[in-house]
Amino acid sequence: MTDASDNMMEVKNVTKTFGDEWEQETVVENLSFSVKRNQLTAIVGPSGCGKSTVVNLLAGFERPDEGQILLNGKPVTGPSKSALVVFQETALMPWLTTYQNVTFGPKLRGDMAPDALKAAADKIIDTVGLREFRDKYPLQLSGGMQRRAELARALINQPLVMIMDEPFRGLDAMTRQLMQEFYLRLCEQESRTNVFVTSELEEAIILADSLIILSNRPTSVREFMQVDLQRPRNLEMLSSPEAYEYKRHAMEILHEEALKSFKGGAGNSDFLEAYSRQG
Ligand SMILES: Nc1ncnc2c1ncn2[C@@H]1O[C@H](COP(=O)(O)OP(=O)(O)OP(=O)(O)O)[C@@H](O)[C@H]1O
Ligand SMILES: [Mg+2]
Repeated sequence: MTDASDNMMEVKNVTKTFGDEWEQETVVENLSFSVKRNQLTAIVGPSGCGKSTVVNLLAGFERPDEGQILLNGKPVTGPSKSALVVFQETALMPWLTTYQNVTFGPKLRGDMAPDALKAAADKIIDTVGLREFRDKYPLQLSGGMQRRAELARALINQPLVMIMDEPFRGLDAMTRQLMQEFYLRLCEQESRTNVFVTSELEEAIILADSLIILSNRPTSVREFMQVDLQRPRNLEMLSSPEAYEYKRHAMEILHEEALKSFKGGAGNSDFLEAYSRQG
């Protein structure tokens, strides 16, 4: 049996429309799901379906037109340090060192005593493996290190939920794998509630306790999957029959949704023609 207190976040019948009275586009329609406490909920969906819009709604950067979003039982009314987002683009301040970037938020808010802040920051910088890069500037860090510095910057606030919007997008394949392994370890060592948006299905499956597949626009939940691969996990488990079956099922649904986005829209036949000429 589950009850509402197992849920860190609840999204209830949320609809979001952009535009003015002349031109409107409903991006999210009747979206409902819950995010279990201390679990990683991965969200995948076709390109452009509205994943970042869902992130913005969860984090309070956007307000739903209809429906409700609850965080720990309370309505989300705006951005807060309880629900923090790590974006796909780097948000580190280039003129600050790793340490200064990590401590920037708490310092600005003045909500931690200086000694406690220093201790917490050094511990978190250790956790993400950046001890030797504590006093380096973002440009002196590799892409993977920059992402870890960003994680540290979010983690220091001890958010109730970490929301990640394609955090490893743009990294080269090797670095991306290393980051996946690193994040897997981090999640398995410290229980934390995560919402992890990605366009990489394998990344979603290996990290997730639950997997939500979004439909094409206007987006809503197309499929909910429980991912019961044993923990601790490693990337090799992706070649197990169980993982393969999750992947096959999810691919089928994603493919159907992606196809829908090619049908009906103006210019699509041009696009397909150009695409086939390319190949
Ligand atoms: N503030 C906004 N104003 C108007 N339209 C918006 C706004 N934010 C998002 N949209 C529209 O919502 C749709 C979905 O965009 P969104 O970025 O959420 O998709 P996505 O799934 O994250 O895309 P991607 O796969 O490229 O990351 C787009 O058509 C976009 O134009
Ligand atoms: Mg996006």
